[in-house]
Amino acid sequence: MTPSANPSEEIALARAMAAMAPAGIRTGCRIIRRRDEVHLLPPEARSIPARQPAMRRASGAARWIAHRLLADAGFDGFALLRSPSGAPAWPGGMTGSLAHDDDMAVAAVAPVGRIVSLGIDVEPALPLPDDIFAIVSTAADRMGSADRRLAGRILFCAKEAVYKAAYPLDREVLGYEDIAVDLDAGRATTRMGRKVSLAYCVAPRVVVLAFVAG
Ligand SMILES: CC(C)(COP(=O)(O)OP(=O)(O)OC[C@H]1O[C@@H](n2cnc3c(N)ncnc32)[C@H](O)[C@@H]1OP(=O)(O)O)[C@@H](O)C(=O)NCCC(=O)NCCS
Repeated sequence: MTPSANPSEEIALARAMAAMAPAGIRTGCRIIRRRDEVHLLPPEARSIPARQPAMRRASGAARWIAHRLLADAGFDGFALLRSPSGAPAWPGGMTGSLAHDDDMAVAAVAPVGRIVSLGIDVEPALPLPDDIFAIVSTAADRMGSADRRLAGRILFCAKEAVYKAAYPLDREVLGYEDIAVDLDAGRATTRMGRKVSLAYCVAPRVVVLAFVAG
């Protein structure tokens, strides 16, 4: 079960994400609150297929963050539509990524330049169940000095973040076996040969940022 988030965790996570994000990448987080679906702008709500109320709340919370990050970058009021692939459609000259677990939403944005694509994922800071680890990990993965208790969770989070960064560039659906992660090197490589850089934090939640350099 995911431990529910509290307001102090939101502040701590915002600080941890800002500390690990490379220069040029802006990040944010928000505890998913009751009625957060109201933060979906009407075109956004129409672009997101009917789903369970909890999923719409999570998408609303993630867009609440993205709207603020985009406004800071000069895109006030931009409607972040969900494209048919699921990837968000960022304004020209910007890239970014969204994620949510049961309780927390996160987002990251960057101007396109040194970075051409971003991926993010968030997970509770809990060990990954063994049966899921067996599906996610391959012999090519290197966990290096990562916290043993959380290594599987970080690996899972990293592969999801890498997928979100790589998909908009390569348009290839990847499985866990298609992504090799080297955590100490801060790098991952996909089946397509795409090189993706990684940064992560583990407290109070596991968040991985994946980014492709231009
Ligand atoms: C992208 C994907 C991994 C997201 O995982 P998830 O656990 O469902 O959800 P998360 O909270 O982590 O992320 C959701 C966000 O991902 C983003 N997203 C969805 N599809 C995406 C894609 N193809 N490319 C980039 N971002 C995408 C969306 O912004 C979405 O938020 P929204 O629904 O509020 O718009 C999943 O939807 C998917 O497409 N999986 C197929 C491939 C796969 O699972 N491979 C194994 C992992 S490598």
